[in-house]
Amino acid sequence: MLAASTQSISAELRHRFESAKRVLVLTGAGVSAESGVPTFRGGGNSAMWKGVPFDVISSATMVERDLQAVWEWFDYRRNLLAELQPNAAHFEIARWQNQFEQCTVVTQNVDGLHQKAGARDVIELHGSIWRARCISCNARYEIQLDKRRSELCIACGDRLRPDVVLFGEILPPGAFEVAAERASECEVCFVIGTSGIVYPAAGLPEIAKSAGAYLCEVNPELTPLSGLCDAVLTGKAGEVLPLLK
Ligand code: OAD
Repeated sequence: MLAASTQSISAELRHRFESAKRVLVLTGAGVSAESGVPTFRGGGNSAMWKGVPFDVISSATMVERDLQAVWEWFDYRRNLLAELQPNAAHFEIARWQNQFEQCTVVTQNVDGLHQKAGARDVIELHGSIWRARCISCNARYEIQLDKRRSELCIACGDRLRPDVVLFGEILPPGAFEVAAERASECEVCFVIGTSGIVYPAAGLPEIAKSAGAYLCEVNPELTPLSGLCDAVLTGKAGEVLPLLK
């Protein structure tokens, strides 16, 4: 493992970065921290909504018990997010998609900020706060900022719920499989702003590494994935990523 400060990008990393054709970028809450989105560990998780703890209001059980309350919480969060803008890290990552032959962006975030910065075909492992999904037939609907959110499914008439992975739920089918395939093909894998403890997302760098990829972590703190990485850039994503230009 090569530790580096924001000032020192190693020659090896620079060479890998400049010569790579296939890159995978895995992001977590930290990539949006500089946009004003709270991370989960160290703030967000302790939040309460009308007296209900964050992990209860965002749970599968709550969808069954009180879907209206779940919507209130997600509507509130979505309205807060609507005001926020992508930061330099989101823009750099979006730019990488034009630089490399293939640059797959896989995020655990539901905030839509990668797309707002121009990233394409983002694999959203934990869903999106900007979509609703039918509780029966799984039909999905985009939620427009300036329009009233629909409550019932046009296809089958049943109720809609936020299209995000809640506590107690598994990942949507397909998304992880595509991400894992891209991880096994990439030459360089960036792990940016994630604590690396939530699986299966945290397994993607392991897949990439065992397939021979060069791993680079960007995070102000060390994580359980740091030891696996070839380069660890200790700093904020919005400050570190532009240094790779
Ligand atoms: P965490 O909150 O667990 O971790 C955020 C990481 O970002 C930490 O390692 C911080 O050190 C790092 N960080 C903070 N500021 C940063 C910055 N400016 N630049 C770079 N890194 C920074 O968030 P995740 O790893 O995304 O799942 O959490 C994973 C999943 O746990 C979430 O998607 C969520 C939660 O349960 C679901 O909701 C399904």
